[in-house]
Amino acid sequence: MTWWRRHDDIAVAPSVLSADFGAARDELASMEAAGADLFHLDVMDGHFVPNLTFGPFIAQALRRSTTLPLDAHLMVTHPDGMIEAFARAGVDALTFHVESESNTKDTLAGIHSLGMKAGLSLRPGTPLSELTPYLADLDLVLVMSVEPGYGGQAFMPDMIERIAALASRRKNGEGHFAISVDGGINAQTGGLCREAGADILVTGSYLFGAPNRAAAVAALRGPENR
Ligand code: DX5
Ligand code: ZN
Repeated sequence: MTWWRRHDDIAVAPSVLSADFGAARDELASMEAAGADLFHLDVMDGHFVPNLTFGPFIAQALRRSTTLPLDAHLMVTHPDGMIEAFARAGVDALTFHVESESNTKDTLAGIHSLGMKAGLSLRPGTPLSELTPYLADLDLVLVMSVEPGYGGQAFMPDMIERIAALASRRKNGEGHFAISVDGGINAQTGGLCREAGADILVTGSYLFGAPNRAAAVAALRGPENR
């Protein structure tokens, strides 16, 4: 469960969607210096979500720009056709959506067979029970706390209960997955997620917009680090 972790406490994953891509290498170095644990890459296909971002080609360029783990969050309709290209690009983990049009079991097995960690995500409106058949196979569950598609949206407080439910199901032996939360995370909402049992906080606009990135990472880790 700790393939990403540099610290004992909660991990911070900057979402590069909010980075200045013209200066991507500097942006990654700055986040690494600020104490980030891994990077979150938002891959959108313009179909599963209206927005269109980047694919394996850019992931590979980012791979060359940092030694921290990369987790690609595939917001795409057909993730199964992309797995090999992302493996070649050097990402450490691939997370796709349970609502996508792939055979979930086969896609998870494909990701594992290429040596990557496998994550599954779900939209806020999708019942958590959709993940039940797969929990034991997952390295990561990505709880969306906004409707996927864009950075800078407001955190949905109802998702706290979902994080707590996952933490208790894990405690009851239903899997060994890490719990990651994505969307509207800042020091305040991140604190709520931490208390509910999250392991990784994905954050874009809050971290990249912070006047002091190291202080923002510390604030996400908890009040004792501020
Ligand atoms: C939303 C993406 C998020 C997004 C988070 O579809 O999956 O990763 O970049 O950005 P903030 O932290 O600004 O909500
Ligand atoms: Zn994301």
